[in-house]
Amino acid sequence: MDYVDLHCHLLWGIDDGAKSEADSIEMARVLHALGYRHVACSPHARPEFASDDEALCEARRAEVQAALQREGIDLTLHKNAENVLDAELLERVVDRRRPVGQGPFLLAEAPHLAPLPQLPDLLFRLKVKGVTPLVAHPERCREFEKPGRAAEAVRGGAYLQLDIGALIGRYGPSAKKLARAFLADGLYAVAATDLHSPRDAAKWVGDSIAELKALAGEAEALRLLRDGPAAILRGAVPPEATGPAPASQAGGMGRVVAWLKRPFS
Ligand SMILES: [Fe+2]
Repeated sequence: MDYVDLHCHLLWGIDDGAKSEADSIEMARVLHALGYRHVACSPHARPEFASDDEALCEARRAEVQAALQREGIDLTLHKNAENVLDAELLERVVDRRRPVGQGPFLLAEAPHLAPLPQLPDLLFRLKVKGVTPLVAHPERCREFEKPGRAAEAVRGGAYLQLDIGALIGRYGPSAKKLARAFLADGLYAVAATDLHSPRDAAKWVGDSIAELKALAGEAEALRLLRDGPAAILRGAVPPEATGPAPASQAGGMGRVVAWLKRPFS
């Protein structure tokens, strides 16, 4: 399967994710058992967390990678961070850029509860600075509740990252509904776990992957879990939605329409 997770708080003791080395090892074990082979660990790049210090994150990544090797867990950890999508990000990317791998993609989350009316302008300015925004879990953010906002962001050159837990209702009914709609419309470039803890991880991540496959089909699930994130990790453009979902599946028609409307450039 060789899944690639581009959003995971697997590095212990630096943010609100794994609390101990044992947590990190258990989370890695769960992800490996579900088919993951690469994880771009994404500690929060926020001043309220120790993980705002990039050097500390890199040291912890090396330490955890060595622990996984010791435990015989075949999971490669890559560089990444979860940035904040706000006006200050435009300044931060000048001298403190923390992209996925070597870039140009940069994982950034919009505010969960506050609106972000300047979103299109922000995305455009990031692109001008050579940053390609990968927007974390838009289905969980207030701004993307506005009709057409997610499609507008994609047209503006951003890529959207599904938090697979949203598909099974882990973040409530609104996030679930939006996630299913964005998925049906083929708006996501990647799917990720945003895993913070080993607690119940095997169950909920496993259920979420199964739900993704049931809703989108095997091929589309592989695009989102493996091919899209693998491309972004190496700095390449991820593949687009492969085509309409089977008509018998919920939301399939939404994607048929979106697919037919795709620009051909
Ligand atoms: Fe996160």
